[in-house]
This record gives sequence, C-alpha cells and structure tokens, in this order.
Amino acid sequence: KKIIFPELFFTDKNLVGRDVCKISRNLSDLKGIFADVEAFEKMPQDKLAYEVSSFLPEKEGTPGGLYFGITYLYPGKVGNEYMMTKGHYHASIDRAEFYWGLEGEGMLILMDEQRNVWAERVFPGSLHYIPGGVAHRMANVGSSLFSFAACWPSDAGHNYAEIAEKGFSARLIEVNGIPHLI
Ligand code: PA5
Ligand code: NI
Repeated sequence: KKIIFPELFFTDKNLVGRDVCKISRNLSDLKGIFADVEAFEKMPQDKLAYEVSSFLPEKEGTPGGLYFGITYLYPGKVGNEYMMTKGHYHASIDRAEFYWGLEGEGMLILMDEQRNVWAERVFPGSLHYIPGGVAHRMANVGSSLFSFAACWPSDAGHNYAEIAEKGFSARLIEVNGIPHLI
C-alpha cells in the first residue's frame, strides 16, 4: 500500500490545472552520504531510494507562500546504516518546516548550526516541527515503505552543499535490530 497524494482541490482559478511535481532519487544520487563505502558500491546504483511528489503553487522564492510534498522512502540499509534522504539546511537558513508521518517507521535526524544532533521517532500521525537553522534528514528504520508529508515556505530553498561536505555529526546505525544514533 502507498499513501496517495491528496486530491488537489481549489477555488482559486489560477491554481486549476497545476501539476504535482515528481522527483526520484536512486542510490547513485546518494553517493557519499553513507559510512560503509564498500557496501554502498556493491549495491545496484540504479536502485530507487526515494520519490518526492510536491505541489508547488508559488514560484520558488516567493515570500509568504507554502509548499507541500510527500516523500516515499524505500526500506533498506547500506551496511548497518538505514536508508535515508540526502538531508539539507534551508538555503534561507531561518525557514522552518513541518514533517508528519504517514505510513511505516522512520526517524527524523536533526542537526543545529552548532552541529548538535538529535532524532525523533516518526510513525503514522506523528507531527514534527523543524525550526529554522536545523538541518533535517529522514531514515526508514522499518522493513516496509516509509512515507511522510512536509510543508515548508516557498522561499526556504535547499542547501545540500553543507551536508554533502560535512555530513551530519551522528549516524543512525542498526545495533541488535534497534536504531542507535552514533
Ligand atoms: O522539503 C523537505 O525537506 C522534503 O520535502 C525533502 O526535500 C524530501 O524529503 C527529500 O529530502 P532531500 O531534499 O534532503 O533529498
Ligand atoms: Ni526542508
């Protein structure tokens, strides 16, 4: 089962006919984010890691607007590290975001600008507030599809470079079947 994207329902005629934008990321798009490089390279690089369906009613960068998206993160591990999103700070670093769990089991990994890391358990119906200045990454810690919804400002943008260079200061590792932030 896969939670479907909400039906777009508008009275604003300017929005009628707008499409949901879909992106997908394969394992090859996640190169460099996992600790176990050897295990990573042995895996099929075209394996689908996650898909994001978004509704972006405003032009990117519009102040005051909101975006909505659902991420479908497939289960799996690279070595003993759970499958996860690239993760990012917002390009406008003070912009906040809501995440909420839809199906499956996940962990939200958060890191502030001082590189302090903590994590929140994500489950169907859980709500997570990501304040400005906090980098965010989701991991699928279950054995089935994990999906979550997000709402963020249309002028937030994504800063992937910082995470690509320095990573998070902790990793979510499976130890005896249980996720540990190490
Ligand atoms: O806006 C968000 O934070 C999410 O929609 C993410 O972009 C999504 O979960 C994919 O993660 P990332 O952008 O880190 O690849
Ligand atoms: Ni974000």
